Amino acid sequence: MGVLKDQSRTLESYKDIFEDSLEQMVLQRMSSNADRPAMSIAKDVLLAGGKRYRPIMSMLGFKAAGGGDLAEIIDFAISAELLHTATLVHDDVYDQAKIRRGKPTIHMTHGISHAIIAGDYLFALGYEMGSRFGSEIIDRVGASCSRMASSEILQFKHINDLSTRPEDYYDIIDGKTAGPFATGGSSAAIIAGADREIVDSVWGFGMEIGRAFQLVDDLLDIIGDEGIGKPRGTDVHEGKMTLPIIYALTMLRGTERAELADVVTNFSDERLEELTRLLEKAGSFEYTRLLISNHIDRALEHSEVLPETNAKLLLIEIAELSRSRTS
Ligand code: IPE
Ligand code: IPE
Ligand code: MG
Ligand code: MG
Repeated sequence: MGVLKDQSRTLESYKDIFEDSLEQMVLQRMSSNADRPAMSIAKDVLLAGGKRYRPIMSMLGFKAAGGGDLAEIIDFAISAELLHTATLVHDDVYDQAKIRRGKPTIHMTHGISHAIIAGDYLFALGYEMGSRFGSEIIDRVGASCSRMASSEILQFKHINDLSTRPEDYYDIIDGKTAGPFATGGSSAAIIAGADREIVDSVWGFGMEIGRAFQLVDDLLDIIGDEGIGKPRGTDVHEGKMTLPIIYALTMLRGTERAELADVVTNFSDERLEELTRLLEKAGSFEYTRLLISNHIDRALEHSEVLPETNAKLLLIEIAELSRSRTS
């Protein structure tokens, strides 16, 4: 992980470094009698090939903020992925999801009790690994986890709520997606010893990239390809009010509005095309793409104050890639 190679690293090589470190950590825990029973259950989803955006944001936030050897931040990056994966394991229980990262979910293979325990274990391990970085970091990560929990509650409140406003949607996604992106990157910048301006710009970058990421995720749920690792229409089945739907509910009138309300509240897989047609008619896809583009532009503005490093270029690359993500 030497400093010398930093200037030539690609996003792929950051991901490779992360995957190796994660695997090593899993192997080490598997050799401990205290961890083995829980890690045996948790490790499959952990190593099943997530996109690793949160740990990569941490690694790049650290380097872009002037951090030294990546070895100093890797435990924090692993902690971010552990906490994220913990939320996914529990999320799949209450969303009753069958597939995660292209594989059957833990509650499908081992039952609900084991999935809850495996999620608790991942949370505990994530906190343990993050706590090594001191109280300021623990406070930030704790606040991010609390906001995530509250936004999940808010999301439940709006299930099948056709009067959900864009502001409600942004409250939800800021807590569940953008906050963790921003927290990972900005905490890593603090660990790097950066000053407030840099920490705040990495925070702002993370928030905007996180919002763009979630909006892309919402689009892919309706018009994505099969490689995304979960079936299309999942959000609509769950009654989630995503932005393309919220927008169409305000734009359509008369029978079309009534048809959309019916599709959303009585959704089945056969109605995906009908939904797509109505959203297209309302201009929802175009509008959502415009919002994605605005968030990415704002992320790029936040990156302007960062010193010129390879990590900054890679943050910009992530931002640009978000425009065209298809899985
Ligand atoms: C899934 O996150 C949950 C959301 C907030 C959209 P990711 O899409 O980053 O999931 P993995 O880590 O790649 O599986
Ligand atoms: C999952 O959120 C991640 C959490 C913040 C708990 P979602 O339910 O929106 O994501 P997917 O669609 O299952 O990945
Ligand atoms: Mg959910
Ligand atoms: Mg879910």
